[in-house]
Amino acid sequence: MSDPVIERPRPPRFDPLPDWVGPATRLIHGARRPDRNAGAVVPPLYTSTTYRFPPEFSPAEPRDPPYLYAREGHPTAEPPAEIIRQLEGAEAARLFGSGMGALAATFQSLVRPGDEVVAFADIYGGTRTLLAQLEGAVGIRVRWVQPGETRRPRDVVGPASRLVFLETPSNPLLTVHDIGAWASEADAVGALLIVDNTFATPVNQRPLKFGADLVVHSATKYLGGHSDLMAGAVVGPRQLVDRIDAHHTLGSVPDPWSAYLLNRSLKTLSLRVARQNENARAVALALRDHPAVERVYYPGWNSVEEEAVADRQMAGRGGMVAFDLRGGSMAVREFLHRLRFVEVASSLGGVESLVSVPRETSHRGLDPGERLRLGIGDGLVRLSLGIEETADLLRDLREALEPRTDHRV
Ligand SMILES: Cc1ncc(COP(=O)(O)O)c(C=O)c1O
Repeated sequence: MSDPVIERPRPPRFDPLPDWVGPATRLIHGARRPDRNAGAVVPPLYTSTTYRFPPEFSPAEPRDPPYLYAREGHPTAEPPAEIIRQLEGAEAARLFGSGMGALAATFQSLVRPGDEVVAFADIYGGTRTLLAQLEGAVGIRVRWVQPGETRRPRDVVGPASRLVFLETPSNPLLTVHDIGAWASEADAVGALLIVDNTFATPVNQRPLKFGADLVVHSATKYLGGHSDLMAGAVVGPRQLVDRIDAHHTLGSVPDPWSAYLLNRSLKTLSLRVARQNENARAVALALRDHPAVERVYYPGWNSVEEEAVADRQMAGRGGMVAFDLRGGSMAVREFLHRLRFVEVASSLGGVESLVSVPRETSHRGLDPGERLRLGIGDGLVRLSLGIEETADLLRDLREALEPRTDHRV
């Protein structure tokens, strides 16, 4: 049984930009629509939850209106969705109230009882929990790929596979997966490849270009970029996005204020990400040579092969770095206490640098044995680099890692 796809009238189109226009320009000008009222340069914020319903409206003959009730879509969400669509090079994009909202609607729309979903075990803890819940609630089977088990899609994708889900780079160990290789294996068995592109952003990586069927984002992170809004996005072919969109009964639309802020934030995405890429690389290199650090996780650093994949599919390696601190949780506590302005908080992708301990935040829902199997040890620290001065970040981290001279902490 397939879901009914509710055909809604399309909102008015945006002024198209020529094909040669690049991402930084698209972020600024990609969602211009003639404003017949005031001629405003900035798209307005529409707070209305409901829209006029012309008595002659008929869903069977959808001439108008494009909006009825804000949960099903509202005009403030259109410009940011359009920008994300263009940046990912997709046919359609739909916004959600959070990344988890986007993931929940995607999985629920595309799986049926008995389907197999192939997913790596070392992904964002919330997504893992969601998939585990769907195993019980919907009757899907998740084929969890353990880290280190295999990098070859053909070892785990089979005829029963319906969806393949990847994060690349992954959360929190920043493993890079070969999108093209997973896409062709998924394609060979008629499965869909879904890539969570939250960590890379479309500035650094465009999974659809390498054969992914759908891209999902937590727009709460880099796309929002200021740690002050929650949103999610699903991007891909219109037919698939419409199927997922049919699930707006889940109520997962972003509110107009968040959509307005997201539109504003997207304008600076390429500047922010370029700086975050630079800061993360500088920090990763500095940590690699630091005696207090046992191991650094940075996209592409696991092997020569992974580096080649990252070179091929990523324009920049992103703003995230993780590392294992020698001395486990005691050393981590001390390090966190000593930081001056790198904030200790979960989440990522904002203009401010944040540090978190996955064991206590993003992956706290997993049992300790499972966490260790995934490589999430007690000394693991995850850094989200912001746009501060590189030298200041290096200094704050270096001083927090210095050997202890007093024992008060
Ligand atoms: C990779 C990844 N995907 C999805 C999510 C969920 O997004 P949200 O917090 O916006 O629901 C997160 C949250 O940390 C994440 O790190």
